[in-house]
Amino acid sequence: MNTPLFHNQVAIVTGAGQGIGLEIARQLANQGAGIILNDIDPKLATDAAEEIRAKGGECIAFAGDSSDPEIINGMVEEAVKCFGKLTIAVANAGITLFGDFFEYPAESLRKVLHVNLEGSFLLAQAAARQMREQKSGGRILLMSSVVGHQAHQFLGAYAMTKAGLEMLAKNLVIELSPYGITINTVAPGATLTERTLAEDPTYPKTWSAITPMGRPAICEDIAHAALFMLSPFSGHITGQSLVVDGGWTSVSPLPDLSNMEVK
Ligand SMILES: NC(=O)c1ccc[n+]([C@@H]2O[C@H](COP(=O)([O-])OP(=O)(O)OC[C@H]3O[C@@H](n4cnc5c(N)ncnc54)[C@H](O)[C@@H]3O)[C@@H](O)[C@H]2O)c1
Repeated sequence: MNTPLFHNQVAIVTGAGQGIGLEIARQLANQGAGIILNDIDPKLATDAAEEIRAKGGECIAFAGDSSDPEIINGMVEEAVKCFGKLTIAVANAGITLFGDFFEYPAESLRKVLHVNLEGSFLLAQAAARQMREQKSGGRILLMSSVVGHQAHQFLGAYAMTKAGLEMLAKNLVIELSPYGITINTVAPGATLTERTLAEDPTYPKTWSAITPMGRPAICEDIAHAALFMLSPFSGHITGQSLVVDGGWTSVSPLPDLSNMEVK
């Protein structure tokens, strides 16, 4: 029998109770990695971890806010306690708060900056410290978005955080490469998840019409790209952003948001 690709690897995946993060956790576990699965919603975290274990994966739920330094350090400690090390960190948790720029509330801005930027930065830092100590390299992946590359109405704050993550990955190449740690981003385009469908029931139709490949992404599309960036096949790739958008950024037509309720 072939050794699974992620045999002997240990990963933290944040915001993984559902959506893209859950699919990354599922695929990593399916390929042999031990997983610390985080979500701010304890039930989602527990159910997701149970689902992965039921399919034979090794997975421990770790509920809490992924931007809280205590939770971040707790996840790294849990990885070391339960699996003996940490080799992969996926800063997937991110919040999308749409809003007109002129009316955008300071509170929404603070929340988006806190979860998307601060949480990802601190997880990268805590994971890199552990990986440096282990002296055997590692992989850090930050979850960006196509709107970190292209303009999109009502997403100024969110887009700024995603562009910030792209620069963080580039910048940390200097500090992490000497330790054999790669850091990259995956930048999904419109992706069908429980959240995006709840926000807009016409999401599949809208994005099928304006995506060159004729459909929005599904979580599996994004997870496949993430697994490549976390695998031995990407060992010489660092500081890069992998866009997974069915061709949308090549043309970037905006969806009709006239019926969208913006806060
Ligand atoms: N879905 C898309 O179309 C899309 C497109 C581009 C980028 N992204 C990015 O991909 C990532 C995942 O997106 P998604 O749509 O799967 O996410 P989602 O909104 O479905 O959230 C996934 C999980 O994250 C959890 N979560 C939210 N805040 C958290 C926090 N502070 N700490 C821990 N968990 C938290 C939620 O409870 C949820 O279960 C995000 O960073 C998002 O910005 C998504």
